[in-house]
This record gives sequence, C-alpha cells and structure tokens, in this order.
Amino acid sequence: MKKKIGVIWGDCASPEIVKQAIRVLDRIAQKYGHTFEYTKILMGGEAIDQMGEPLPKSQLDLCLQQDSVLLGAIGGPKWEGLAGNMRPEKGLLALRAGMGLYSNNRPAKIWPQLADASPLKKEIVDQGIDFIIVRELIGGAYFGKHEHFEENGELCALDTMPYSEHEIERIGRIGFETAMKRNKKLCMVDKHNVLETSRLWVKVFDRLKEEYPEVEYSTMFVDNCAMQICKNPAQFDVIVTENLFGDILSDEASEITGSIGMIPSSSLGKTTNGLYEPIHGSAPDIAGKNIINPIACILSAAMMLRFSFNMSEEADEIEEAVNQVLNDGIRTSDMMSEGMKLVGTQEMGDAILAKI
Ligand code: IPM
Ligand code: MG
Repeated sequence: MKKKIGVIWGDCASPEIVKQAIRVLDRIAQKYGHTFEYTKILMGGEAIDQMGEPLPKSQLDLCLQQDSVLLGAIGGPKWEGLAGNMRPEKGLLALRAGMGLYSNNRPAKIWPQLADASPLKKEIVDQGIDFIIVRELIGGAYFGKHEHFEENGELCALDTMPYSEHEIERIGRIGFETAMKRNKKLCMVDKHNVLETSRLWVKVFDRLKEEYPEVEYSTMFVDNCAMQICKNPAQFDVIVTENLFGDILSDEASEITGSIGMIPSSSLGKTTNGLYEPIHGSAPDIAGKNIINPIACILSAAMMLRFSFNMSEEADEIEEAVNQVLNDGIRTSDMMSEGMKLVGTQEMGDAILAKI
C-alpha cells in the first residue's frame, strides 16, 4: 500500500524520537512491501522560527492532504515569552481544530516489565492497569474566549469553557463504542456539582446510554477520579471526559504505568486522516543528549498503522518488538530500574529495529 505521511519533527528533543519512529516505519514498509511517502510539515516553535507563526495555513493545508500525520512534541523555553496566540501550543490546538480531530485516545496500560517503575504500591499495580482515556479535543476551555483586561485598577483574566450538545454527543459515542470493543465499562468524568457544562454532559450521556444497554455506565467527579486513578486504577476500562480534565488525568494515568515516555496517542475526527503523537512534551532539559525515550513516538506510529491505515499485523509487529526489547531488560533512563541495561535514544531504536 502507498500512504502519504505528514511528519512534524517538533521542537527540542522531539526530532530525536521522530527519527526513530521513521526508521521503524521504513523497516515495516520494506518488510511488508508498502511505500510511505513523508512530507515535512512545520508546526510549533520550528514554524514560528522559520515562518513567523505557529501553524501557517500552508502547513495546515499540507496536513489535510496527507493520509495521516505523525508528530513528536512541540514547545520549549525559547518561545515562553510570546503572547498566547503566538505560542507553539497554539499551533497544536489550531492543527487539532483545523483537522477536526475531536477524539483523543490515550491508553494507560502497564507493561508488566515496567511494574517496578510505577510509583504505585505493588499490590495496586498487581491488580492491573489497563484503561483508555477518551478525551474531547477541540472544545471546552481550550477553545473558549481568552481575555485579559483591567478592572478597578487591577489586572483580570477570563477563560470560558463552552460545550454544545453535538460536541458532547459525538465524543460520547466514541466513548460508548470504545467501551463496546473492550470490557463494556464507561465512566464519564465531570464536575456536575459545580459546572453548567458538566450538567449538559450528564444530560447528553443519559440519552446516549439508552442506545448502549450493554455498557455499564457511571459518572465520577474529576477530583475523585484523580484520586481513584492512583488508589484503584483497576476499576477503569474506558474514561470519557472533556478537554481540560482529559489533559490532566491522562498525565496522571501515564505516570502510574511507569513512564510517560511509553504512552502514544491517536486523535481522530470524521475521517481516517488522524494525528498521532506521544502524550509527553518536548523535553527541553534533555534535548540533543540522546536520552529521550523514543517508544511513545514509535508506538504512536504503530497506532497510525492500525487506526488510519488498517495495517493491524504491522502494528502488532511493532508492539511486539517493543515488548521483546523490554523483556531483554533494555531501558532508557526514564524507566530505568536496578539490573536493567541503560541505553540512549538511538540505541533503543536499534534494539527495536533488530526485532522487526
Ligand atoms: C497534551 C499537551 C497539550 C494539551 C499542550 C502542549 C497544549 O499537554 O497534548 O496533553 O494541553 O493538550
Ligand atoms: Mg497534556
């Protein structure tokens, strides 16, 4: 099969992991007789430096012409001082919105080999950690009004958090459908004791749940959910939630699995042209040092093969290669533990390639 892949190399340490993911994709292409055509796309700090804005229209158009887009991570101290709408992160948000990617899928699954690296007690980890956070990605506070102004002689700021029924319904469906493919448990996380938007989420979900009688549906307040994720993560199968809550909970969920450097994500909308990226940031503190863990980016490439290109055998092969490398005791520093072999980014890429 021939596929066009947009590649956003990203900022700081990001190009180091994207490089490894592309090596893996190339090996898969060679082995299975596919052709992957890569187009370099600028977004984030790199786009600001070279083109003066975080997501120039030409670059969004390029993304829309691809079969899918692979991204590392963007942002860094160099661009910290810029105004809100000129920051690298704004490019990412504009890209998600411009591609219509309303559904962000973030798996929190523990690799048994990394159980020791989890900050949770062994007896909690032993009960199993295997759930998915389905995060609404193009609504809520991220896409509300952002204003700052002066009132009564002091600085004030305001962010709004809008949601409409159709935005909630379409992500709700993804939540229920995801649960149907797994253990049929869906937990909608909100703050309906305080927020009007959450009360609308409850209303829409109460309607939707009638269509999925097989799914065991519940709701949970976000503060309680943050606690339950570290107290009893085994209770979760699929969590569905709004944009900001999903951002926060998915970092927490990844950490308990041992390393945020292991967690990939997919973002999809109405079509199969999606955006695939690790959930971690651009790691400016370790940029250029060959330290960053490339596995989340490599697994994101695997997710692209599975969900956008329908290449499940190829995706399985990449995931199995990662599994074997972990079995061999090979670790980057973020997931290092006693008795394991410490390697750098490039060497981790080599080790994974050797298994494919
Ligand atoms: C994420 C990141 C982004 C987000 C940032 C970089 C804007 O934290 O993908 O989780 O908040 O969505
Ligand atoms: Mg985040």
